[in-house]
Amino acid sequence: MVEVEELFGRLRRYPDVEAVNLYAVDAADRLLLDVAADSLAAAGDGRVAVIDDGYGALTLGTVAAHDLHGVRVHQDLLTGELALANNARAAGLTDRYGVHELGRGLLEDVRVVLWRLPRALSGLAETADAIARFAAPDVEVFAGGRDKYLTPAMNEVLAESFGSVRASRGRQKSRILLATEPKPVGEPRFPMRNKLDDRELEVVAHGAAFSGPRLDIGTRFLLDYLKRMKPDARDAIDLGCGTGILAVALAQSRPGIRVTATDQSAAAVASTRATAELNAVADRVTVLRDDAMSGAPDNSADLVLCNPPFHVGAAVHTGSAIKMFQQAGRVLRPGGELWTVYNTHLNYRGVMERMVGKTDVMGRNRKFTVTRSVRGLHDVRE
Ligand SMILES: C[S@@+](CC[C@H](N)C(=O)[O-])C[C@H]1O[C@@H](n2cnc3c(N)ncnc32)[C@H](O)[C@@H]1O
Repeated sequence: MVEVEELFGRLRRYPDVEAVNLYAVDAADRLLLDVAADSLAAAGDGRVAVIDDGYGALTLGTVAAHDLHGVRVHQDLLTGELALANNARAAGLTDRYGVHELGRGLLEDVRVVLWRLPRALSGLAETADAIARFAAPDVEVFAGGRDKYLTPAMNEVLAESFGSVRASRGRQKSRILLATEPKPVGEPRFPMRNKLDDRELEVVAHGAAFSGPRLDIGTRFLLDYLKRMKPDARDAIDLGCGTGILAVALAQSRPGIRVTATDQSAAAVASTRATAELNAVADRVTVLRDDAMSGAPDNSADLVLCNPPFHVGAAVHTGSAIKMFQQAGRVLRPGGELWTVYNTHLNYRGVMERMVGKTDVMGRNRKFTVTRSVRGLHDVRE
């Protein structure tokens, strides 16, 4: 059997951003596995679900410590899913778990859930509802995280779906919430729908999607420039599409354009698909779950729109944004344009200039900057 500490020593975050201050396993993962140990040992094969495992520490730690088979896994982020697959392959544990969407297939008859708490309360609410709806009536939910990301509101959200919610004693700045006694559930609250003020666009949002069913203020600012974005573009990409507002607004305003909307979050991709369908542009908006559009061919797009993330997982880090700019440089055709909005203090202009091409500031308000980068005729990524 694989020894847990030895396995943790070899875990990698790849293909997610790797850096000295970013870890593949942390104190909250270890605390979750310790607090849930007795329940995991008693659960049996096929009765454990793991939700939003970072890079495989919970799934592979469970399998290794309790020699379990049939662990059911859902990770919102594709980078986490790919990292788990790589780590499982390296440890020879690929056949011990299966990947599922958030829903009945993941949770039916499950008695133990290990869960890394998401930061967004709406993401927490949708997952808690799914567990209460589909898991076994005696399910024990071990939901953990780092103290700095936990809030009292999380207990309240869990209490909407569970009769009992208790906090563990903290250890190394981490804590576990134990939820039991799933409550009877009514109509699902998610996905949510919202018609945007002053726009002919109705948004559909699953809980974990960025900004929920609302229009982010950075995105609103970028939308002001829609008409000026490469008017002759035929193929466009909404990179990090969230609920798909940029993709759908672009498709609505240009009847001839084809848009690919891509995000690494399962909730985002499901939301964008539903938003495109509801607004009757699904025939021209293709939605893909991908890590920074790494699956898109070279020289295949005329226009990329991006409101980049400023987080990698829970950590504030520019790694994901930089990875996106790098990919934009690869995927844009010569003369193609990357339009970006970002918090002015982040000052991405130099990076975009290097990775895409000539970059001009097209607008600035009190908080945000909008830039246009034009892919040069030579290869600017060297
Ligand atoms: C600031 S939000 C913008 C969402 C949407 N475009 C909007 O304007 O409302 C950034 C998005 O990038 C996505 N994202 C983060 N890292 C990513 C990656 N490596 N690959 C693809 N998408 C990523 C996030 O899931 C999130 O939906």
